[in-house]
Amino acid sequence: MSLEPSLFPRCDATVAWTALRGHFEAHGRELDLREAFARDAGRFDAFALEAPEVFADLSKNRWDLMTRQLLVELARECQLEARRDAMLAGEPINTTEGRAVLHTALRAPRGQGLFSHEVHEVLDRLLAFAEGVRDTAASGITDVVNIGIGGSDLGPQMVVPALDAFVHPGLRFHFVSNVDGHDIAPVLRRLEAKRTLFIIASKTFTTQETMANAAVAREWFLAQGGTDIARHFVGATTNLKAAAAFGIHTTFGFWDWVGGRYSLWSAIGLPIAIAIGAEGFRALLEGAHAMDRHFATAPLLANLPVQLGLLDVWYRNFHGFTSRSVAPYHQGLKRLPAYLQQLEMESNGKGVDLGGQPLPYGTSPVVWGEPGTNGQHAYFQMLHQGTDVIPVEFIAVRRPTHAHADLHAKALANCLAQSQALMLGKTTEAALAEKAPTASDRLGKLTVARHRTFPGNRPSTTLVLEQLTPSALGALIALYEHRVFTSGALWGLNSFDQWGVELGKALAGDLLPRLASGDASGLDGSTAGLLRRLAAGS
Ligand code: F6P
Repeated sequence: MSLEPSLFPRCDATVAWTALRGHFEAHGRELDLREAFARDAGRFDAFALEAPEVFADLSKNRWDLMTRQLLVELARECQLEARRDAMLAGEPINTTEGRAVLHTALRAPRGQGLFSHEVHEVLDRLLAFAEGVRDTAASGITDVVNIGIGGSDLGPQMVVPALDAFVHPGLRFHFVSNVDGHDIAPVLRRLEAKRTLFIIASKTFTTQETMANAAVAREWFLAQGGTDIARHFVGATTNLKAAAAFGIHTTFGFWDWVGGRYSLWSAIGLPIAIAIGAEGFRALLEGAHAMDRHFATAPLLANLPVQLGLLDVWYRNFHGFTSRSVAPYHQGLKRLPAYLQQLEMESNGKGVDLGGQPLPYGTSPVVWGEPGTNGQHAYFQMLHQGTDVIPVEFIAVRRPTHAHADLHAKALANCLAQSQALMLGKTTEAALAEKAPTASDRLGKLTVARHRTFPGNRPSTTLVLEQLTPSALGALIALYEHRVFTSGALWGLNSFDQWGVELGKALAGDLLPRLASGDASGLDGSTAGLLRRLAAGS
């Protein structure tokens, strides 16, 4: 298949786009979820979707069957399936870097995916090493420190606590990412060199933050009397030469067709493999692979990642919603919003299409959130009564991995209640009819009732997992990856580069020596003023 960008129609150049505009004006803008449910007793079933390990209720979203149909037509006109197949076949769809995008090959069973031999050779070695560390009586290791940033940090940092119930009880995991020394300092303070394993995780092995923290860790290790760097430092990287120059002899490689934010399935997953063991890591890969098969084969209307990606386009480009809040009702998923920020916003936060043409429509929404019920006691106020409509994505897990059934029931009841409250709202009449014991009696009843009114009709999606196991989590993450692919493909983006991080990096390189010298010459007024305040001798 040719990757000539002009062969892929952009969403705004399609017949379906125009039809969606008309449909939005006629039936989308004013769609009221309460009325939609009252009209159609089958709405829940019509908008329910099953994918491997994940059930989705899409019925509380501000769309109807016609919207979905038109969105699927939009996907067809944009040749979503051909683009997906090009990715899965290893075509260089990351056109600006001339690279294939093959994180799916990392979770294909032995002998089935592209580069299977190389992938499984590293995987076997990685898992054998992980099992060696987990044999704590023999390894002597109690603490594992992952030093990496972005995609070399957020995946393992999200997955390890999510799967806490499956983690080796004799091992502690630490994640150091920030170049700010306040990240590594408190970690080192609690470690003993001879019981610590450092994983230096960097695809390029050149990233400033990671290299600086790795150097600090090595210095600390030697100062603590550590002698065997080769035993206590391992590398996960595509740059084996630079790792060797650092003094690392145990390295697990991967390939340029694994993007940083898609890399937790590769050697970057080493902390996960040590935490949950070979069997657990293989289950994580299997769950992701099951979702890959679903994405590759399910018809577009029944394809969960595709449906979520299409809904994202509908909300961003027709309803004009600019953000999406993620609310996992599972404390283990506390870092999921941060992980999704990189996955979605680094992938689809772009302003030009594949041919470099500026886009006349919005792309990545802002993705943010906190686990429920914590978010309820912080920003949910705004979700319920604020002036912006923010679609919320609830994640509910039916069976906990702890024994406190009463707590779990409360978490689930809150999860259900929030999506219900967002949709149903409360009229001023209903508020008037209620008692409000804590309301001031200096105000008129109607004024108080207006403050206690909820507009409702606020959309949400609920994803349901049976239990947060390695395979369920693998499927959930792959679901998000393919959803981002879908919206990115429709928007006509290259979802797999990240040029937007370059400029700041280069400027920091210029400013670093100026902080020492205080030289502000040639800088803009604000940066010069701030530099003078922050410079070493000031
Ligand atoms: O933030 C830019 C980025 O390139 C991410 O895409 C990547 O995950 C991160 O830096 C870390 O890069 P590396 O693994 O090469 O250290």
